[in-house]
Amino acid sequence: MLVSAKEMLTKAREGKYAVGQFNINNLEWTKAILLTANENNSPVIIGVSEGAGKYMCGYTTIVGMVEGMIKELNITVPVALHLDHGSYEGAKACINAGFSSIMFDGSHYPIEENIAKTTELVNACNVLGLSLEAEVGSIGGEEDGVVGAGECADPDECKAVADLGITMLAAGIGNIHGKYPENWAGLSFETLAAIKEKVGDMPLVLHGGTGIPADMIKKAISLGVAKINVNTECQLAFQEATRKYVEEGKDLQGKGFDPRKLLAPGFEAIKATVKEKMELFGSINKA
Ligand code: 13P
Repeated sequence: MLVSAKEMLTKAREGKYAVGQFNINNLEWTKAILLTANENNSPVIIGVSEGAGKYMCGYTTIVGMVEGMIKELNITVPVALHLDHGSYEGAKACINAGFSSIMFDGSHYPIEENIAKTTELVNACNVLGLSLEAEVGSIGGEEDGVVGAGECADPDECKAVADLGITMLAAGIGNIHGKYPENWAGLSFETLAAIKEKVGDMPLVLHGGTGIPADMIKKAISLGVAKINVNTECQLAFQEATRKYVEEGKDLQGKGFDPRKLLAPGFEAIKATVKEKMELFGSINKA
């Protein structure tokens, strides 16, 4: 059964570790993430961007796939199915489709409009027992065609949004989706500490988990980050493993072309990446 992310994130914040959100693109990714979480007794959040949602034939297909796998693979750790960077319409569609957690990314709206739309979604999620993530201060880089400048969030705006009754807050602290540039200034711990001071116990979310040095991850967790999102690193691992397999001509060996064999190295690469992140975030044996 899918669960809200609320309980797993409250426990993570109290226990000073973070739960990983790993974004999916297909059946193999989903299976790799669920199995790794179960093998390592770790709670997990499956992230779905709107673009990935379209690619995988819509939100009801995804709910069916993830719920089916939880049952068929005997997954017993807590699993939240979470819309990543949802639009207002996307958030409503995922609520109706059976997602257990929603992110509404209203960071590109003026703060008043972000607050109005977030308030409406807080009410809808509360009725159904779903967790809701809101964002203040856009995360840098590009994700699904949405380009953010990577600003640092205003701690007072964070407090205003946190007070609406959301479950967790994503606040820009210089983090960027995708690969970090050579001259990246690093995370702004000053901003993070100021936000924590204002929002108290609210679990904070760190986007752009790919390529952040381990010491920064640990410091962010010590300052209230309880959920860390990873996407690009799984994409890179999947692509590299598949490329190597094809370059070595292994796809042409044996009794002809087998798509399951072609996808197997990428599946294993995602498992290894997810396990490495769970170790770094400290979520192993916390289910
Ligand atoms: P990365 O692609 O940088 O890992 O970021 C993922 C993310 O933040 C999804 O919301």
